[in-house]
Amino acid sequence: MRPYIICHMGTSIDGRLHPSRFTSAAAGVSPAVLRGHYEKIHETLDADGWIVGRKTMSEMAKGTERHIADAPKLPRGASHVGNRNGRKLAIGIDPSGRVHFGKDNVGGDHAVAVLGGEVSDAHLTELREDGVSYIFAGPTGDDLGGAMERIASTFGVKRLLLEGGGSINGAFLKLKLIDEFSTLIFPAVDGVAGTQSIVDYHGREGDRPGAGQALRLTHLEALEGGMVWLRHAVERAPG
Ligand SMILES: NC(=O)c1ccc[n+]([C@@H]2O[C@H](COP(=O)([O-])OP(=O)(O)OC[C@H]3O[C@@H](n4cnc5c(N)ncnc54)[C@H](OP(=O)(O)O)[C@@H]3O)[C@@H](O)[C@H]2O)c1
Repeated sequence: MRPYIICHMGTSIDGRLHPSRFTSAAAGVSPAVLRGHYEKIHETLDADGWIVGRKTMSEMAKGTERHIADAPKLPRGASHVGNRNGRKLAIGIDPSGRVHFGKDNVGGDHAVAVLGGEVSDAHLTELREDGVSYIFAGPTGDDLGGAMERIASTFGVKRLLLEGGGSINGAFLKLKLIDEFSTLIFPAVDGVAGTQSIVDYHGREGDRPGAGQALRLTHLEALEGGMVWLRHAVERAPG
């Protein structure tokens, strides 16, 4: 059984990804209050951890690559579990092993790398030395469903937040791995054609990653400063 997965994102009214590009808060509205809603609701959702794509995790994990000579040969497919110490999980989907953590946590949550089988022994050794846990998502790192099942069985987690960027959200949507969306709409617009959006599947032309799925509104709330919080359950589409 995989965990229940909620895609929790903040966005502009045109669905864009980068708050730094949004229009300013209106007169009398505190930008800090708007930004603060995201973390408050992250806590309210009471998950066992959170998941981000490699690019987002690279921005959050501040480690640098260590060049480890003579790394031992390590088995592919075998998970490595560091010392979690009851902490929530900070999970990065990193098929090629490009994220360097430098420690066993991201913002206090225990770091877990989801890797492909081509990752080097030097990188696996670096993760072990840093105290980071890792699991494999198949030979190429794209078996995200299997990876979520392994995370559930290895760490006993039941509920995870998927928190971007758009590419990894799109991949999870395509694989029908999202059970719910929690969307915070800033009173703001980006407005530029082609700017990244909060769900951005990169597939073949004509692909519809949400095919066969339907969204049902389960919650609608106006928050201080004019932010709107929507929750949608993802259901199988009728027929
Ligand atoms: N609204 C917000 O506040 C918010 C939230 C989160 C992130 N962000 C921003 O979003 C930006 C990054 O977003 P992004 O969409 O470019 O990147 P992303 O989703 O963070 O990461 C994408 C990467 O994940 C890896 N990946 C593994 N399996 C994948 C699969 N099946 N499909 C797609 N990717 C897969 C790939 O790594 P490899 O390239 O190594 O193969 C891919 O390049 C950052 O600037 C971050 O600050 C904003």
